[in-house]
Amino acid sequence: MSMQQASTQAPVDVVARTQAVIEAMAGLEGPLLPILHGVQDEFGFVPEASLPVIAEALNISRAEAHGVVSFYHDYRRAPAGRHVLKLCQAEACQSMGSERVAAQVKAALGIGFHETSADGSVTLEPVYCLGLCACAPAAMLDGEVIGRVDAAAIEEIVAEVRR
Ligand code: FES
Repeated sequence: MSMQQASTQAPVDVVARTQAVIEAMAGLEGPLLPILHGVQDEFGFVPEASLPVIAEALNISRAEAHGVVSFYHDYRRAPAGRHVLKLCQAEACQSMGSERVAAQVKAALGIGFHETSADGSVTLEPVYCLGLCACAPAAMLDGEVIGRVDAAAIEEIVAEVRR
């Protein structure tokens, strides 16, 4: 193998860990989405280097694998910030002001959905129902759900992610 070839190879670790995820899910019907979720669970995002490995294993084109990752906003293309804040934007929360909450949080953090703050402290993502509709508008910070997000809660959340 030439030096140039070697430098364009995917990191061995990423390839091996991606293959392990694929093997664990090989028996599933329609395995692409679960594999991508598995890879994201493994790395915290879907590394670029995983896509050719997945494409080859499932006998699909790389373009197809790329297309699916780009289409579903659930998949991260880069590592998340230290905190992950999800704001519910589904119907019940919308009717209770989730768009206003999102606008306030975006302004406070200086980032939009699917973005990570420059200091790496927080990634902001929309989510579509957290099963907390009775306590809308809802959010989730690092896996913990927060209901009835009002101005005071936004202040607390912003302070928490900046800590
Ligand atoms: S719609 Fe937001 S929690 Fe269900």
